[in-house]
Amino acid sequence: MPQSKIAGIGFYVPEQVVTNHDLMKFMDTSDEWIQERSGIRERRYGIKGKETPTTMAAEATKIACERAGISTHEIDFIVFATLSPDYYFPGCGVLLQRELGITKTEIGALDVRNQCSGFIYSLSVADQFIKSGMYKNVLVVGSEMHSMGLDFTTRGRNVAVLFGDGAGAVILQPTEEEGKGILTTHLHSDGTHAEELALLSPGSHGGYHLPDIDFGFPEVELGEIFVYPNLLENKTYYPNMNGQLVFKTAVTKFPEVIHEALTKTGYAPSDINLLVPHQANLRIAQFVQKTLGLSDDKVYNNIMKYGNTTAASIPIALCEAWEAGKVKDGDLVCLAAFGSGFTWGSALIRW
Ligand code: ACO
Repeated sequence: MPQSKIAGIGFYVPEQVVTNHDLMKFMDTSDEWIQERSGIRERRYGIKGKETPTTMAAEATKIACERAGISTHEIDFIVFATLSPDYYFPGCGVLLQRELGITKTEIGALDVRNQCSGFIYSLSVADQFIKSGMYKNVLVVGSEMHSMGLDFTTRGRNVAVLFGDGAGAVILQPTEEEGKGILTTHLHSDGTHAEELALLSPGSHGGYHLPDIDFGFPEVELGEIFVYPNLLENKTYYPNMNGQLVFKTAVTKFPEVIHEALTKTGYAPSDINLLVPHQANLRIAQFVQKTLGLSDDKVYNNIMKYGNTTAASIPIALCEAWEAGKVKDGDLVCLAAFGSGFTWGSALIRW
């Protein structure tokens, strides 16, 4: 059975840099608060009406394809992870296919809605397609345009300061090289706290999961199911987050799922050449680093520059690390993520 390898990788971030000082013009916050709690100094925002998750994904994909030595027309399957899609439906996979000018209909396109762990989930799905022999060139892309859906008033400051826009992409191909490529992936979920890190509406829940929140149900009329009468008043179209619960759970689940991957493959934390954690928060990444006993040069973080780009954060960070020569042939690279759902996962790759 072939293994799958990352044959090409690329990323794209918008040009527009937004510093913590820029955010202070809209909300009651400070550079000191944001840096101390999250490590973030600045992030990128796309240009409204010009850049979308799909257009950014297309830019990242072109670079990944070029580095993999294939044309975009050779892509057999698209796995697109995002929580900030261009449309409610259809998904971004087909939009990306169109954006890239791929007119052949033999390919398939799949959207993955697993938020911060979306890239790991997508990578695992793509890995199975390659291992089964079904496809030869699978595009896995994570792309987010958070700036279009954040509350930039003081009310939304606990969430808005954390997120940024960007896209990262990889091309997975089969490899016969012994011991190389994706060695293992591990995926987990626990829906107990689904609403603790969520964007609740528009949606079709009709208030079902939310006894304590007044969504205007049952007055809502048929046909108004996606847009509740007091949606605007309650601002439930913005993400909400129980930051402390997320933090506490993340620092447990990150090390757990990394150890799971190491145990499965017979490695120890000291064998890892580079850990690329989902860029949720620098403090979470530092906690994980300390728990695993890894030195600074074995963990790659870039949240300082880009904020949390959710499904895009791992491929962006992995690509930057690779471009900087921090990922070399034969290295053991560990990817890990935790986020909304809650969902979490890891992947171990022999580069
Ligand atoms: N600027 C200034 N003050 C703020 C801001 C802000 N941007 N946001 C919140 N505050 C205030 C609060 O209102 C609160 O004030 P109060 O004490 O007067 O009530 C105070 O700061 C402390 O708020 P907390 O929410 O308790 O702050 P905490 O120390 O927990 O830090 C944070 C918040 C950074 C979100 C933290 O909980 C955290 O790191 N959580 C992990 C969640 C995370 O990283 N999410 C990323 C997305 S999810 C993911 O990718 C896994």
